Amino acid sequence: MTKAHSATGPYQQFILPLLKQYNVANQCALDFGCGVGRYAFPLAGYFKKVIGVDTAETMRRIGRQEAQKRGLNSVEFLDSAEFYSRPLQCDFIYSTHVFQHLENQDEIAKIIERFKEVLRGYAYLHFDTRPKDYAYVLKYLLPDLFLPKTKKRGMRRVRRDVQKLRDMFSECGFQIVKEFNPGTEFHYFFLRHL
Ligand SMILES: C[S@@+](CC[C@H](N)C(=O)[O-])C[C@H]1O[C@@H](n2cnc3c(N)ncnc32)[C@H](O)[C@@H]1O
Repeated sequence: MTKAHSATGPYQQFILPLLKQYNVANQCALDFGCGVGRYAFPLAGYFKKVIGVDTAETMRRIGRQEAQKRGLNSVEFLDSAEFYSRPLQCDFIYSTHVFQHLENQDEIAKIIERFKEVLRGYAYLHFDTRPKDYAYVLKYLLPDLFLPKTKKRGMRRVRRDVQKLRDMFSECGFQIVKEFNPGTEFHYFFLRHL
């Protein structure tokens, strides 16, 4: 992983201070939609075990190779089926740049339900909650055929209604401890579930 791809900087600036401030237990963290492990590796400096979950086999393979290169056997990569079927218990769940690409709100609800089963501690989750202006609504309605690559379904960033997210978290029994940058493309929810 090149320096440009490393997320050590944002990890130290935003995540580590929260882990310390809230005295998050250090047994296990889960990085949902981990990609090649940009955050999973820095998290391994704090947690004894880090589980990266990603649907893309290529991402998991590159992540495993990187873990091997770093001599880190505390970082494990799971696919989606394993995420749902394995008995997991985590002190911290992190997810960035993932939920914004999921079109289906029911899929997000299913993932959050699973987080609820797995988590005994805190979660730090990223969503895009910018208001939906006319240009956005229009683009959202157009079929992929008429859209540039970055705006097609699966690639584009889906804006979420903040109140719906808050309701979903509270229905699942999560307490919202803090929100960072609400109403922006980098809206992070810091949640607690005991
Ligand atoms: C834009 S990348 C972000 C990767 C990583 N979080 C980072 O910031 O470097 C989004 C990742 O989410 C994964 N992903 C998408 N849907 C997923 C799902 N339902 N479950 C797990 N991973 C998913 C994709 O395969 C991709 O690797």
